[in-house]
Amino acid sequence: MEQFDVAVIGGGPGGYVAAIRCAQLGKKTALVENRELGGTCLNRGCIPTKTLLHTAELYDEVRSHGKELGLAAEGLSVDYAALAARKDAVVGRLRRGIEGLVKGRKITHIKGRAVLESAGAAGGIFTVEESSGAGGSNAGVKYAAADIIIATGSEPASIPVPGADIPAVLDSDAVLSLARAPEAAVIIGGGVIGVEFATLFNALGKKITIIEMLPKILAGMDDSVCAGMAKILAKRGVDIHTGAKLLEIKSAGANGAVCYYEEGGAKKEASGEIVIMAVGRRPVTKGIGLEAAGIALNRGFVTVNEKMATGVPGIWAIGDVTGKVQLAHVASAQGLVAAANIAGKNASLAYNIVPACVYTNPEIASVGLTEEAAKASGLPVKTGSFPAAANGRSMIMNSGDGFVKIITHAETGEILGAHIMAPRATDMIGEIAALMRSEGTVEELADTIHAHPTVSEMIMEAAHDVEGLCCHKL
Ligand code: NAI
Repeated sequence: MEQFDVAVIGGGPGGYVAAIRCAQLGKKTALVENRELGGTCLNRGCIPTKTLLHTAELYDEVRSHGKELGLAAEGLSVDYAALAARKDAVVGRLRRGIEGLVKGRKITHIKGRAVLESAGAAGGIFTVEESSGAGGSNAGVKYAAADIIIATGSEPASIPVPGADIPAVLDSDAVLSLARAPEAAVIIGGGVIGVEFATLFNALGKKITIIEMLPKILAGMDDSVCAGMAKILAKRGVDIHTGAKLLEIKSAGANGAVCYYEEGGAKKEASGEIVIMAVGRRPVTKGIGLEAAGIALNRGFVTVNEKMATGVPGIWAIGDVTGKVQLAHVASAQGLVAAANIAGKNASLAYNIVPACVYTNPEIASVGLTEEAAKASGLPVKTGSFPAAANGRSMIMNSGDGFVKIITHAETGEILGAHIMAPRATDMIGEIAALMRSEGTVEELADTIHAHPTVSEMIMEAAHDVEGLCCHKL
């Protein structure tokens, strides 16, 4: 039986990063993956969706504003097959990159599905049951490892309404595999996935309806962002129904499906060629021997402490399967923490400075507390904001919708959170995260010279606004 120092089960952004770090720290490492390296993020999530969105936004920009931008583009159209091929090419290139990194670090990549057999202070034993891909068969092979990291991720969840299983109802994996864009889609769930797919297909000129159970879309984000994006999407023709309860989905044959829902006491319906189920993701924990190994689950998620340790010695868990924050960059950060602890260091992860991004147009990014959460926790709150409409670079980029809002501690100037809706918001949020991490104050942010003309000036202006000293707004 081959013996490793560390075996990582699952090759997504949590697992492969953890494996690389373990190898860097001198551990003999195995990475077990039964599909493609890169996991959901690379193969069925972040990367394919953002590739599709990039083209959709270029198309929409030229189609909707070409004339004023000085672009004459007659006969502009979307070649969805070419777009899908580019998406696959981008994914393929990045995947080969990861395969190269794994190989280069001398990590043993075991292709197959791992099932834990036993776990304890002396290490764990797992069997790789079956293999997929071109890596040959590893059926039934047993391995041992002193430490095992569970990084099996999550999969799309569904809801138990009648008709949720008809062929026209697709989860995000299936939507990303479509050979052409649907003419009309009903999206169940106005969370991150729902809003990004709405942005994508709306930009491609398709009819989109969102049915969201809660009173607002993007719940959990700052109210200003939720309301701002709902307004932008509605202005572009997306039909948003919040506080709406999905009752049933019925097949409409070749025409797709009809969703019946209740809104404000009235029964309503919306039809689409497809129905996109975007109601959250559930952990992948079944059939991998977790129960046999005595690993505790909480509502299906693997329970871990701040060091990524489960209650069983030598067994660690990271990523979506832990149910902490279902984001690729959090999974990677958790992976680094687990690897460090396995190597005898004392690392832990706090979740108070996690940037979250939504790839709408304009983009949304946030970090730290929302204004509502800061106030609810009893902190003395002072905020500052700046509108994109008054920012030169945003105007140049033809994007006047949006803002930067900064939440600070009224007495200490500590930055508690920031919420941005602006072009390149997803790139800009890192500045605030870094400052929060180094415990910088809003005064220091305001004093930092920001290049002109950039969208990032909005951050400096919002910081000045906290003191009522913003020069470019009345
Ligand atoms: P989510 O939890 O963000 O949103 C699901 C939405 O569905 C919620 O608003 C919920 O109220 C609604 N919902 C649930 N049951 C419903 C029902 N019966 N009828 C109507 N609405 C219902 O989950 P989502 O969007 O599926 O995303 C899954 C995970 O993937 C999230 O944790 C998200 O952070 C992550 N993700 C992150 C992205 C990013 O960082 N840009 C992009 C895509 C996903």
